[in-house]
Amino acid sequence: MAKIAEELLLQPQDKILDVGCGTGAMIPFIHQYIPLSQLSLCDCSDAMLKEAKKRFPECPAICSDFLELKRGNFDKLLFNAVFVY
Ligand SMILES: C[S@@+](CC[C@H](N)C(=O)[O-])C[C@H]1O[C@@H](n2cnc3c(N)ncnc32)[C@H](O)[C@@H]1O
Repeated sequence: MAKIAEELLLQPQDKILDVGCGTGAMIPFIHQYIPLSQLSLCDCSDAMLKEAKKRFPECPAICSDFLELKRGNFDKLLFNAVFVY
């Protein structure tokens, strides 16, 4: 995660969208760099997103195919292990 954070140039004020968040495995790592309230979650699977929301209720969540998202107010997008699909 340190490498991802470095490549994303994460800043404490960044608003991040974790695209294809799954059950939220990346969230604890991202939270080392930014507050949970600035991290939004997106997954096209309602079951996966529900699991992530159970663990991290502070994070706003969007259940959608990311390709169908309208423009959002984010500084950076994180895709981890999404393009295998
Ligand atoms: C292998 S999991 C990775 C989960 C998480 N990013 C991680 O690193 O643990 C891939 C996730 O991407 C989601 N996904 C795949 N295609 C997507 C799309 N077009 N839009 C939103 N989510 C998608 C799947 O539902 C699944 O939960």
